[in-house]
Parts: sequence; structure tokens; C-alpha cells
Amino acid sequence: MPLPTSPDPLTIPIGERAELEALAIRLAEEAGALVRDQRPDRLGVQQTKSTDLDVVTVMDQRSEQLLRERLAELRPDDGVLGEEEGVTAGSSGLTWVVDPIDGTVNYLYDLPGYAVSVAVVVGDPTVEGAWAPVAGAVHVPRTGETFHAHAGGGARVRLAGGLCGELSVSDVADLGATLVATGFAYDREVRVGQAEIVARLLPQVRDIRRLGAAAVDLCHVAAGRVDVYYERGCHAWDIAAGMLCVTEAGGVVTGASREQPPGESLVVAGGRGAHQTLLEHL
Ligand code: IPD
Repeated sequence: MPLPTSPDPLTIPIGERAELEALAIRLAEEAGALVRDQRPDRLGVQQTKSTDLDVVTVMDQRSEQLLRERLAELRPDDGVLGEEEGVTAGSSGLTWVVDPIDGTVNYLYDLPGYAVSVAVVVGDPTVEGAWAPVAGAVHVPRTGETFHAHAGGGARVRLAGGLCGELSVSDVADLGATLVATGFAYDREVRVGQAEIVARLLPQVRDIRRLGAAAVDLCHVAAGRVDVYYERGCHAWDIAAGMLCVTEAGGVVTGASREQPPGESLVVAGGRGAHQTLLEHL
């Protein structure tokens, strides 16, 4: 089957891309403050989705409601794709792709590795390879960091104290010196295959990290804090903002080959060297 053509985010005027980035930052930080500050002491599982392991909390729902309310008010012509409520069509050609809590299992257990991910894309984010991010932000409420980027504008991180820094991927290429981040699917059967891959990779690489939040994994690649990240089973809302941070930080994000777009079957993100090396070994 021919691959869909990915639309060009650079067709959006530069000034608008920067404004969209500023809005993504504002929304991710507002929703992040909500989920951090209003986390109930006795947080439970509200419902499960694709499998018994794929959980939703009341704060995933409240965070997505907040993001949708703000977008309806500020960007009424844009579409919205959210992890909890699915797609609302728009008429502008832009769609906001939001993960109200990426790393819900960490959040459930009060582990700090969770984030709010807000991106705006051109094209259709429900079709693999048929969309491209224009701007995005990933806010990690428990560290106060916000990773953000717009297409053609580079990628940055804003730290809790207000300090900013440019993001840049690592230049490691040697498998033995590679720190690899990965994640595991909510489907127990898929995990059997994932465990086999990890068992094969682990003796060959520097080490493996499993943080539990794909958006943050991607931002860690953008910041050079890990050399490469791969995962099977990610959705557009997990990757849209983080993958833009990686590419704007000089890295590469693909599926199982350089020609394949990242998607549910595989996401591989890294600096050029580590990305190529990992592709050869997966
Ligand atoms: C999940 C996290 C996790 C990854 C899963 C994602 P969610 O997102 O990013 O690290 O392994 O593939 O679905 O469900 O917490 O938003």
C-alpha cells in the first residue's frame, strides 16, 4: 500500500507557528498545574480502555475537558484529537492533538514521570503518516520543565525557575555506548515480543530505561538525556509534540525504516547515528 503524503507544516506562516507554540506551552502548563495540584489523595482507576492495563483516572478526564474548553474558546475553527474523547472535527486544517496525562500509570502511583502533551498538526492525525506537527509543548508538572518547539524554529526547554535552553540530540552512534529508552504496550501478548527484543538488546547497549511516558521519552531524546527511544503501540497524542522537539533538536523520528512514518507499529527517535544503529538492530 502506498504511504500517505505527509503535509508540510512550513506552509503555515512563521509568525503563526510561533503563536501556536506559545499557546501549546500555555495550555500544557495550565493543564499540568491542574493535574499536579488537584490530584486526589485517594486516586483510583475511573475506567479501563484497550485492555485491563490501560487505565484512565478522573484527572485524565478533567485535564482533557480543560484543554477542550480552552481550545473551543481560543481556536474554535481548529479540530481536536484527545486521548480520552477522540476527534472533534474542525474547519481550519489544523488539529490539536492532546494527551491530558501521558504516563497515567505513573500518575496513578504518584510517580513523577508524567506530562501533559499538547501539539497542533496539519493533515489528518487519525491516519498514520498523513499529518505533521506544526507546534507543540510537553510539560512535566513534577519537575516544572516544559519542552517546546515549532516547525523550523528549533526546540527549547523552559526550566522551573524560568531559565531556557536550546535542545540538541546526542551524537552517539556506537550501539555499545547507547542509552536506550523504551516503553511497553498495554497488551500483554504484545509485551511477550517486546520482552524478547529487550532481552536481545540489553547485553549490547549501555543500558535501557523505561520511564513510563512516551512524550517525556521523546523530550529526553531531544535533550540528549538518552540517545535513542523506540516503542511499539504509541498513538498520535503520545508522540505529536515530543517528535517535533526531537526533529527540531536535530534528530530523526521514523517507523521501522527511514521511509516509514512513526506510528502504532513502531516509533524510533534519536540522533542520526543512534537512530540508524538502532534501526539496524531492531
Ligand atoms: C502511555 C505512556 C507509556 C507508553 C504507552 C503510552 P498514557 O501513555 O506513554 O510510557 O509505554 O505506550 O500509551 O496511556 O499514559 O497516556
